[in-house]
Amino acid sequence: MRLRALRAAPPAILPSLLLCDFGRLADELARLEAAGAKALHLDVMDGHFVPNMTYGLTIVEACRKYSALPIDVHLMIANPEKYVRRYRDAGADLLTIHIEAVPQPAALLKEIRELEMGAGLALNPPTPLGAIEPFLKLCDLVLVMSVMPGFGGQAFDPAVLSKLNTLREWSRREKQELLLEVDGGVNDATVGQCAAAGAGLFVVGSGIFRREDYAAAISELTALAVASSGGR
Ligand code: DX5
Ligand code: ZN
Repeated sequence: MRLRALRAAPPAILPSLLLCDFGRLADELARLEAAGAKALHLDVMDGHFVPNMTYGLTIVEACRKYSALPIDVHLMIANPEKYVRRYRDAGADLLTIHIEAVPQPAALLKEIRELEMGAGLALNPPTPLGAIEPFLKLCDLVLVMSVMPGFGGQAFDPAVLSKLNTLREWSRREKQELLLEVDGGVNDATVGQCAAAGAGLFVVGSGIFRREDYAAAISELTALAVASSGGR
């Protein structure tokens, strides 16, 4: 149900909660929903696959309890196969794994779909599209990282724009609906380029949480994405 809502949403701004005030999580969730956020992007880091450690199942459960928005879980962990069912139980609507953590993800993507979540596959900037191409038919979403994962507030890497372009062409050619998500350094200066290249979901951390007015930030970013998405 919530996944269908997310599919209908592009272009959609997804706040990455990494930089939010976790001491006031329920208030932050209410503010984001009132500000027009279309879904919540939750960054799970294990301090092993990436050089940082954030949060896991308990925060996903808390977001599920206090928000009706779709939950998009970005797993930056070395062994996601051990946790997919628990993330479903915690309330994830979309679960994204990294090709660098699971080089042969076919069985895991199928399991994620069987658990009635949207199956996402992410790749880091240095990873070529060829690494994920054999598995695109098993994906509902591809997450193109525009920074090396691990931290918010990093600079956007424009080299990933051609990947978005190629994925959009693939989706059209194969007539397969594929949500194209971009994550890392997306803000007023870069969201337009991403939309023009084919992205539909835009993860934004510092571009929202460093602003006082979440609604203004989200509506400005949405307007820029709409203006550049060529009337998707
Ligand atoms: C980084 C995370 C991103 C990050 C985005 O590894 O996956 O979601 O929080 O934050 P900004 O928009 O500040 O780059
Ligand atoms: Zn992320």
